[in-house]
Amino acid sequence: MTEKWEKTLKHALITGASRGIGAAMVKHFAKLNYNLTLCAQNEKRLNDFSDVIQQYHPDARIETIALDYNQPAAVDEACSNQFSLMPVPDVFFASAGVSVPDMLETPSLSWQKVYQVNVLSTIAICNLVSKRMAEAGGGHIFIMGSNSAYIHKGHSGAYGSSKAAIVHYAETLFHLMLKDKVKVTCLCPGLVNTDMTRDDLPFDEEEVIQTKDLVDTVQWVMGLSPGASIPSIRIQCTPLIVARNEASEQ
Ligand SMILES: NC(=O)c1ccc[n+]([C@@H]2O[C@H](COP(=O)([O-])OP(=O)(O)OC[C@H]3O[C@@H](n4cnc5c(N)ncnc54)[C@H](OP(=O)(O)O)[C@@H]3O)[C@@H](O)[C@H]2O)c1
Repeated sequence: MTEKWEKTLKHALITGASRGIGAAMVKHFAKLNYNLTLCAQNEKRLNDFSDVIQQYHPDARIETIALDYNQPAAVDEACSNQFSLMPVPDVFFASAGVSVPDMLETPSLSWQKVYQVNVLSTIAICNLVSKRMAEAGGGHIFIMGSNSAYIHKGHSGAYGSSKAAIVHYAETLFHLMLKDKVKVTCLCPGLVNTDMTRDDLPFDEEEVIQTKDLVDTVQWVMGLSPGASIPSIRIQCTPLIVARNEASEQ
């Protein structure tokens, strides 16, 4: 362990850290003087982003782990090595995820990918981190679910079913971990203004949920007293509900 790990009290592990919601969480926890372990698939993008954060927070210790969640052997390897050897995080924000279009048109390889990334690899790392946090006496885990887990639309059926699986996992983990003082919260927003949605966003970027809304939610959840725990939170995208209500009235 280097000097920098010892100097700072808190450590956050963030996956999907290079972009979107994960990147917003990186900025948030960096401002709170956490040391950071950042994980994403594209090594260059991850390291470039890490360098920018380091410039603004020169005292922070920032490690990066480039890992393709769609490679189960690489995920197992990272679980046995980097994720096992790093200091136990105080906060784990599991944001890595992919979307696929249209359920009926989604080829089986894409079904495999959306389940491997959003469910199986996410669970492999969450299981390990949960056990390590329990041994260390506590922590907080945030897992990105989605409002798509609760709606039944063909265009998001493959993605939504993977998110339903991870919401179920997260809520089960919530119950399993309470006795070990590990709080688990699954965040389930509708449309958020990120790369994932930007290309086919049916509304103006400013009209939908912003990454800041997720940051504010995390801050609020973490500010609750030890006796208060939130298993999951749905955050609806206002213009999407209005559009759906109008469609159902016609
Ligand atoms: N945006 C929304 O409307 C919305 C709504 C509800 C829930 N969510 C969920 O929130 C999470 C974050 O979404 P976002 O909107 O921030 O997405 P995003 O902007 O597309 O970012 C996705 C992140 O996941 C990483 N990632 C993608 N595929 C990966 C792989 N195979 N292995 C490892 N990392 C991988 C990406 O890394 P690279 O940069 O290396 O590709 C990136 O850091 C996801 O789980 C998503 O399902 C999003």
